[in-house]
Amino acid sequence: MRTAALLATIALTAVSAGAAQAADVEAGRQKSASCAGCHGADGNSMSPMNPSVAGQKEQYLVTTMLDYKNGKRQHTLMQAVLTPLSEADIRDIAAFYASQKCQ
Ligand code: HEC
Repeated sequence: MRTAALLATIALTAVSAGAAQAADVEAGRQKSASCAGCHGADGNSMSPMNPSVAGQKEQYLVTTMLDYKNGKRQHTLMQAVLTPLSEADIRDIAAFYASQKCQ
């Protein structure tokens, strides 16, 4: 009986921890406002100077944004815009762009 209660507690903890970490598409849409000027409101860039990020793989977006942030991928401007963002912000933005259609 005690084991069952313990297992239930562990399972509940695991579920709530997972929910806290899940990326939020709607939050990502709002957090991407400062990116829209270059990458387009939905991640489809209007300028040949800036890459489109709509419909890109979520994990790729997370990885490449973290790489800019920590300087592994070098681009002064992208590092500057990503520096104030947390990893959770980056995950939300990646989920938003990944959910958009590339045009
Ligand atoms: C002033 C224009 C500008 C702004 C603002 C900007 N970006 Fe970028 N972004 C670029 C350019 C230019 C590149 C290509 C850089 C390179 O050569 O690595 C890029 C690259 C990227 C990439 C990599 C794309 C790929 O296919 O590898 C991602 C992801 C990205 N930006 C996300 C964002 C996010 C999220 C924001 C807002 C927090 C943002 N950008 C704000 C211009 C901008």
